[in-house]
Amino acid sequence: MLLDYFIFGLITILMPGAQCEETEVFAEAGSQAELPCKCNPSSPFIPSIVWSKANKGTVWRKQKSGLQYWGSSWSSKGTHRVQCPHNQFERGNFNLQINNVMAEDGGIYSCMVENGGKWAVNVVILRIIEVSVSSSVSVWGNDVSISCKVTPWPYEASVHWMLNNSPFVPKTENASNNDTTKSIVREKATARLAGNWTCVVDYKGKEGRASAALTVKGIIHPSEDNTQVYAALASTVTLPCVFSPGLIPSNLVWEKLKPEFLFKPGPSRLPSSFSQSSPSSQRPFDKSATLKEVGFEDEGRYRCSGTIEGQRLTRNMQLVVAKIDILSKKTGSVTLTCQLTDTSKVTDYEWVHVIYDLNGTQSVRSIQKGNTLSISKASEENQGEWTCRFYGKEGILGNVTYHIQTMSHLSGPKSSGGSHNTAGVVGLSFLLLVLLLILAQMYKNHQRRKRIFQYPALETIVHTVSNEREERNRVKK
Ligand SMILES: *[C@@H]1O[C@H](CO)[C@@H](O)[C@H](O)[C@H]1NC(C)=O
Ligand SMILES: *[C@@H]1O[C@H](CO)[C@@H](O)[C@H](O)[C@H]1NC(C)=O
Repeated sequence: MLLDYFIFGLITILMPGAQCEETEVFAEAGSQAELPCKCNPSSPFIPSIVWSKANKGTVWRKQKSGLQYWGSSWSSKGTHRVQCPHNQFERGNFNLQINNVMAEDGGIYSCMVENGGKWAVNVVILRIIEVSVSSSVSVWGNDVSISCKVTPWPYEASVHWMLNNSPFVPKTENASNNDTTKSIVREKATARLAGNWTCVVDYKGKEGRASAALTVKGIIHPSEDNTQVYAALASTVTLPCVFSPGLIPSNLVWEKLKPEFLFKPGPSRLPSSFSQSSPSSQRPFDKSATLKEVGFEDEGRYRCSGTIEGQRLTRNMQLVVAKIDILSKKTGSVTLTCQLTDTSKVTDYEWVHVIYDLNGTQSVRSIQKGNTLSISKASEENQGEWTCRFYGKEGILGNVTYHIQTMSHLSGPKSSGGSHNTAGVVGLSFLLLVLLLILAQMYKNHQRRKRIFQYPALETIVHTVSNEREERNRVKK
């Protein structure tokens, strides 16, 4: 390298009147590089131009006559990988374009322009940046390395990484990395690492960039372990377990983890309403499960696992169950308390009143913050649904609803209360019907007796008649 500089230095010294400039150019491997060469257009004639590469000889040159020559390694079968656009010559622009650059193209170039016996020299250092990924599609948990190679490597350059256009700071700085001509990121593949990796090289005020894409396959939803899933008591909840499209895991297992094994949880029985959705009804990579009617005791940790390419992938999640506790007071007021089996991620509670008008249009009114709410049960305007919304740092986590019906003075949680209420109404109607029948019978008897009392003699006649009839019947037998 030093020798190259020396040679170009020498050229500059030996050529009388030569002006020398040194320019850094970065180009991503595979792209087109443009090597600048500018001279003052001091003469109206097109000068002779020579582009050459250190140790490689002439790249391209043009004589005053207009004849062009290509270096043997820069053209094959009549196609030229380098060109110098003529239309720019008048402006004193003799830039060299190199198509589809590769690492080998990195190095020192010189552009010499002869104008009226004077030579102007431009020196360009072309550096090729190349980002490569150990395997562009990695299965979650496998080792992955992303390396940034610059040819020739700019010592004292600052190199940093961007992942999906935001700065990426590697967790572990690679102290054991002896190769100083590369920057390498080594990580275990996770969804966090998926995307477009860009290596940014800053050197002498110039910036070079190159990118490569990394796809990570595995369980994409939930994307992290210990994700919390919130469900209202007696509602239906989906425990998500979605693999990357195209992945079909084998040996898929769903487990509920016993809480007592805090450090190494063991499996326990799955809830009775647990069902793994039928494979035909969904995409084959979606292994989510459903709990038809969540019970308070169903809360806890669940694990979904499956095997992909010999790698066992697991995802733990936590089901948090929410319910509303009701405390009725003699005064007719009722205190509602929003209760969750785990409140570690809950930062806020909000009570909202949901009212439906005659058209069935829903309107929601926020009432207050906090996890308890006291309202009068008898008040007509408190009729309807009372929903406790709970929030985490990133927004709403879930809600749970309580239903108040002031008309019948029957109330209960909406989801489970519905069937209870109908049963009650049916029972009551039946009782009323029986009562009505009894009353009707009593009234009839009463009326009959009243008639009889009006005619006391008739009573005896009726009696004798009936007695005689009975006697006759007995005789017949
Ligand atoms: C119900 O709908 C009708 C027609 O869509 C509208 O004119 C009326 O105002 C609505 N009533 C209420 C209470 O929203
Ligand atoms: C409660 O949550 C469900 C499901 O996310 C949503 O559809 C509903 O609108 C929420 N209700 C209220 C009052 O926020």
